[in-house]
Amino acid sequence: MQSPRRRAALVATVAVSALAGLAGCGGDDIKGSRADLVHGKQLFVERCGACHTLTRAGTRGTVGPDLDAAFAQSIEDGFGRDTVQGVVYEQILYPNSEMPAKLVEGQSAHDVAAYVANAAAKGGDDQGALATAVRRAEQREATAENGRLEIDADPTGQLAYVVSAATATAGALQIDSRNASTVPHDIALESSDGTELGKGETVSGGGVSTVNTDVRPGRYTFFCSLPGHREGGMEGTLTVR
Ligand code: HEC
Repeated sequence: MQSPRRRAALVATVAVSALAGLAGCGGDDIKGSRADLVHGKQLFVERCGACHTLTRAGTRGTVGPDLDAAFAQSIEDGFGRDTVQGVVYEQILYPNSEMPAKLVEGQSAHDVAAYVANAAAKGGDDQGALATAVRRAEQREATAENGRLEIDADPTGQLAYVVSAATATAGALQIDSRNASTVPHDIALESSDGTELGKGETVSGGGVSTVNTDVRPGRYTFFCSLPGHREGGMEGTLTVR
């Protein structure tokens, strides 16, 4: 993770180059005027939110820095959201290390950067079209049929399964978790004492993660074992009778 000092330096550098760009050609290509914030929010949730917390976007990833906290100081220091937008845009194209580069490109990268700059450390909730830009799939309860349970991942890439609680009868059990999103997920099952009973493959883009196990009556937890995903909300309970 970046130190606050390094981040402040980055913000300052981008502020200067943004000014230089303005003076040179009036280029407002990192300004919000042409960015589509609704599209930016949808892409942020789908491609970035599994690793980053951003309150207004409703994301709770913990692999990368909390983006509200990351930019609170710069905004308070008066750097302006245009500058933050430039920093986020640079980060998308040229991340330092662990973050995959170019998860979004072209206009989409501008849209995401504009949304993050607009939302970071703002407090309150998104309004208007932004408020309904992303819907979390309704979470429901599931019951195993013929020893088989379906617990799909949220198709928009949010850290959730579409099932919050499931029931099954004792015996052989297969759990299938389809993941239509681009964010990798798996599904794992553990008993109430924390013993792992099985873990499916990591999948994305429509792949299915499958656990085959035997269960006895009791309470279990299903969860995604990728770093930060369970903590972000990707878990639920399985009750076996
Ligand atoms: C697989 C996890 C992962 C994904 C997905 C991801 N990031 Fe990151 N991000 C990180 C990590 C780790 C860091 C810190 C290290 C670094 O800067 O490369 C980071 C750093 C950042 C920073 C710098 C924050 C600071 O403290 O200065 C920004 C801004 C950022 N990411 C935005 C995004 C955006 C926008 C997306 C989606 C296009 C995204 N990230 C997708 C893991 C991720």
